[in-house]
Amino acid sequence: MSDATDASQLDLPPVIGHRGAAAAAPENTPAGMRMAHRLGARWVEFDVRLTADAQCIVLHDDTIDRTSDGRGVAARLTLAALRRYDAGAWFDKRFAGERIPSFDEIIVLLGELGLGANVEIKPAPGQEVETARAIVAVLQRSWPAHLPPPLLSSFSPVALEAARDAAPAIARGYLFGRVPANWRAEVERLGCVTVHCDARRLEQATAQAVIGAGYPLLAYTVNRPERARELLGWGLSAVFTDCPDRIIAGLSKDGKSSPKGPGIHT
Ligand code: G3P
Ligand code: MG
Repeated sequence: MSDATDASQLDLPPVIGHRGAAAAAPENTPAGMRMAHRLGARWVEFDVRLTADAQCIVLHDDTIDRTSDGRGVAARLTLAALRRYDAGAWFDKRFAGERIPSFDEIIVLLGELGLGANVEIKPAPGQEVETARAIVAVLQRSWPAHLPPPLLSSFSPVALEAARDAAPAIARGYLFGRVPANWRAEVERLGCVTVHCDARRLEQATAQAVIGAGYPLLAYTVNRPERARELLGWGLSAVFTDCPDRIIAGLSKDGKSSPKGPGIHT
């Protein structure tokens, strides 16, 4: 994996599939990654956490209740136990049979599809350091050389610090809700190369301050093309969206992106 601590090497597209393509397929599943690719995304974002047997899995919530037919806290279940549950039928019967994927399995799929990734470190409370270290170890072992270097991110400064210490060369993004007044000191302290924030709580002046300081700014979760156009017009590098097809089509309309342009498969 090449060193991507320089943000200019990240090759970020303007549209990144959120949890795969969460409006069109069950989030954080192989089907979701395939759907994101089919809908034109070049990169996906997904969330990684630990099982009881310290395996990295792709799952957003602390529990499996919302996104599977099982119940329980993921960090208290083994990978084998988690794999028994259906992670697709809750979304739509067509996706019955999907499983909560291991991080390794998703990386293999990204390699097949040619998808880049923002890997969000989503630790259960108290597991920030071990989760970050485990994710970094998987990336160092398994990230396909033909893909663009991955971008880690987290809301947890402890996790970001652990990722930095374990693998300083893997690029890190600082995830905020609203960008706080002291954002720059925090981002510099942790050696992050990008800033990620909640699009609903972003004002143009803040965007200008971050971008003006030389940090690519990314915003989640943007499902309206008009808002995506506005944010990219402010100079944001990318938006995370549940519906990459809708956003890509919306950007094509006013010429900010073309069917052959960035973020779009031809
Ligand atoms: O990484 C962007 C976004 O995914 C952060 O929020 O809760 O959807 O993981 P969440
Ligand atoms: Mg996320």
